[in-house]
Order: sequence, then structure tokens, then C-alpha cells
Amino acid sequence: MNTSPLSPSYYSDDELYDSQLSPRMKKLSPIHWSPLEVIKTAAAFLSDKPGSKIIDIGSGIGKFCIVAAQRYPDCDFYGIEQRRDLHEIALLSRKISPCELNIHFMHGNFTELDFGCYDGLYFFNSFAENLYRFGRIDNSIQYSAGLYNYYANYFYKILEGKASGTRLVTYHGSDTELPQSYQLIESTFKNHLKLYIKA
Ligand SMILES: C[S@@+](CC[C@H](N)C(=O)[O-])C[C@H]1O[C@@H](n2cnc3c(N)ncnc32)[C@H](O)[C@@H]1O
Repeated sequence: MNTSPLSPSYYSDDELYDSQLSPRMKKLSPIHWSPLEVIKTAAAFLSDKPGSKIIDIGSGIGKFCIVAAQRYPDCDFYGIEQRRDLHEIALLSRKISPCELNIHFMHGNFTELDFGCYDGLYFFNSFAENLYRFGRIDNSIQYSAGLYNYYANYFYKILEGKASGTRLVTYHGSDTELPQSYQLIESTFKNHLKLYIKA
């Protein structure tokens, strides 16, 4: 991988973004990594106040944080990812990003994290890999419907515990799995991208 900072144009074109990835990561891109236009809309909504802390739950190769952090340098973007190889790609991408100080990647399961300090959450249906065989990232973890339910319930409780005013963006998520206190502000990208604020 290249080690000198990439030009900002890499962060405005999905094909160009993918061109710096390995063939395997590029192949996973259409299903697993958020498109740039989706990231731009989500980041604009989540970065409403300077100093906001925003977390991507299941950050994969880090695309959301890398791109959002460049657009909103006065906010901090965090990613938590369970797969070590993806986390390491995210760290390398951070290194070659034009701005890296407001990007923070963590390796681990989201259930290990204290969510208290985050003002905004981004969620690209990370647990669905437990339900579908098609297009799986790898076979490094045990998939099961039970695990999906466990994670979905855990996430629900995290959302319930957040303060009023917390912002949430889901991509390919399900309304029925969110606490009712999250009010839908906008639904876009053929209703796949949803923007919420907690009442
Ligand atoms: C659909 S990808 C989204 C990647 C990234 N958020 C994006 O938008 O480009 C979902 C990611 O969530 C991760 N993931 C799934 N369950 C997780 C868990 N329990 N804890 C942490 N990461 C998880 C997967 O490994 C995968 O990289």
C-alpha cells in the first residue's frame, strides 16, 4: 500500500477510493463499505455541532470515518471493528489520509465499548452478516441468528440509554429494531438511509 497521503480526490469518487484497496477488499466494497454519497449525507447530519463525537459501529476498513473526518475536521470520528485484518486496513488508510488527527479506530466487539461519550452513531446493518450467507466477508467468525438477536438487543439497550438529542443514522437498517424515542427526521437513498434524533 502507498504510504504518502492520498489527494482529496480519492475521497470523492468510490472507484478511486476502491483503487487503493486489495482485490479482495475491492470485491467486498459494493456490499459492505458505505458509498461516498451516503457517507456525505450521514456525516453532514451527525456533525451538526463542532466537537461532536461520532462512532461507526462495525467500521470495517474505516471508509466512513476516513471520509467524514476529512469533511468535518472539528468533529471526532471513532470506529469499532471486530475483525483484526479490517481494523489494520483502517489504520493504514488513516495513515495515508490527508487528515488523521480526528480519526480513531478501535479493534474489538462493540459490546465491549462504553458508548457514554458519543453524540452520534452510524450503523450500516453490521449484524446482518449473521442472517445471510450471500457475500460474507470471510469465515473467521461463527455466524448465527442467535448472535444477530443478541447484538440487536444489545444495540437497542445502548440506544435506549443515550441522552435526548443523540443523532443516529442507519443504512439498510430496520425501524422496528429501534426504540420509539428515536424520531425519524429524513429517509433518503430509496429509504435505505435514515436519519433520527432521540426525543
Ligand atoms: C456492512 S460492514 C460496514 C462497514 C463500515 N461501517 C462502512 O459503512 O463502510 C459491517 C462491519 O461490521 C463489523 N461487525 C459486525 N458485527 C460486529 C460486532 N459485534 N462488533 C464489531 N464489529 C462488528 C463487520 O466485521 C463489518 O466489518
